[in-house]
Formats: sequence, structure tokens, C-alpha cells
Amino acid sequence: MKPLTPAELVLMKKACSITRDALNYAQSQIKPGISTYELDKMVEKFIIDSGAIPSCLGYEGFPASICTSVNEMVVHGIPSKDCILKEGDIISVDLCVTYKGFIGDAARTFPVGKISPEKARLIEVTKNAFFEGIKHLAVGRRIGELSHAIQVYAEKNGYSVVRELAGHGIGRHMHEPPTICNYGKVTDGPMVVADCCLAIEPMINMGRKEVWLLEDGWGVITRDGKPSAHYENTVLVTKDGVEILTL
Ligand code: MF3
Ligand code: CO
Repeated sequence: MKPLTPAELVLMKKACSITRDALNYAQSQIKPGISTYELDKMVEKFIIDSGAIPSCLGYEGFPASICTSVNEMVVHGIPSKDCILKEGDIISVDLCVTYKGFIGDAARTFPVGKISPEKARLIEVTKNAFFEGIKHLAVGRRIGELSHAIQVYAEKNGYSVVRELAGHGIGRHMHEPPTICNYGKVTDGPMVVADCCLAIEPMINMGRKEVWLLEDGWGVITRDGKPSAHYENTVLVTKDGVEILTL
């Protein structure tokens, strides 16, 4: 957790606003019949035209600019010409943007056309879990307070929390300390320091919490095949409170 200077925060905020705009652009292009490959290419162009760099492209060998995770895929889906969206699907889009050396990171799960009430509720609860979590985020409070609140909220709604993946500090690097689990005890983790940026990202499964890693080494899917949703924002914590930079 590294505090950023006011000058660094200006760049960080710009990276985050491009991240948000790119996600909104992705949402506007999602419709039945489009492939996740086409979506990736369009969002990649949007990010570059915005004067930024798609940070996921080439990150630890990831072969695309955005992660596209459909239905039972939790995260890190590789966009593909063979993956064509159809009415009733849900798709999680996760993307990072680098602007002048600073990185914004955010994800949303979007409906494709009309979706079932069950899937709509999963998307809603996953988003709400983020907001429940950040109620407990403040300078001097432990990361575990947020983690615990997310878990309690998700489980109270009958869902489960993925254990293998977590949020993280962010700034000049996509993944910085601390690890921000979406489950745990209030006494877990470090205390939050002022002027740090964190990526908070609940990944919530409709069924059981267990996941598999696909043979491509990236895609993470639920073991029970039930849908999963993701909601992530990069936030700034100051002595005055929490600012959501990618909203
Ligand atoms: N944006 C993801 C995160 O929340 C990371 C994407 S993995 C990548 O941490 F390889 F695609 F970059
Ligand atoms: Co992230």
C-alpha cells in the first residue's frame, strides 16, 4: 500500500476515467451475435484512441486487451472468435488501462439481451457486495473488515465467494500489496493507509465456491457450471473517505 502524491493522483484518476469509459463503451457494443473477439478488438481501439494502453495485453502473456468471461466463467476469459454472445448470457468484462504509467482496473457483469431473473439477481447482489464492502473501508481500518462484510452479504443472499482470486493494491503496477480477499475475518490483513489506491473486486458464484482453471491457463470456471458475476472498481482512500475512481 503506497500513498500517491497529488500529482500522481491526477494521472491515476485519468487512467481510471478512461477505464470507466472503456467499460461503458464495451457495454454499448454487447448484443446477441457479437463475438468476444470482436468486442476485444473494439474496446482495444477505444482505449488506444483515448491515449492510453490496454494493460492486460501481454500481461504475464495474456493474449488480449480485455477479459471476457461468459456465464459460468468467473474471470480471465480469453476473447475468442468462437465465443458468440447469445440472448440470456451474462458476460463479465474486466479491463485495465495504463495512462502515463498509472493503471486503472475495473470490471462489470453485463446482461446479453433479456436474462433470467436469477442471473439478474446475481449481478445485482455482486454489485451490492462491493458497496457493502466499502462501507468498512477507511484509513486505519483493517482490510479484513471489508473482506468479511463482502462474504457475509454474499452468503446471506445464498451465494458463495470465490477464494482463489482477490482484489489488490494498484498504482504504477496492476497488482500491488495488499491482497484484498472477498472473505475472511475482520482481524485479517493490514490497516489501510491514506492516499492509496485499491482494486476491490467481489467474484460471486450462484452455486458453490469451487472453481477450475481451464487448460488455456487463464479462464477460471465454476466447478458446478452455475453462473458467476464480477464487479470491480479502483478506489482511492483518503482521510476524508473513499472515492470510487472508475465509476
Ligand atoms: N483486471 C484483472 C484484475 O482484476 C487482471 C486481468 S489479468 C490479465 O486483477 F492478464 F488479463 F491482465
Ligand atoms: Co483487479
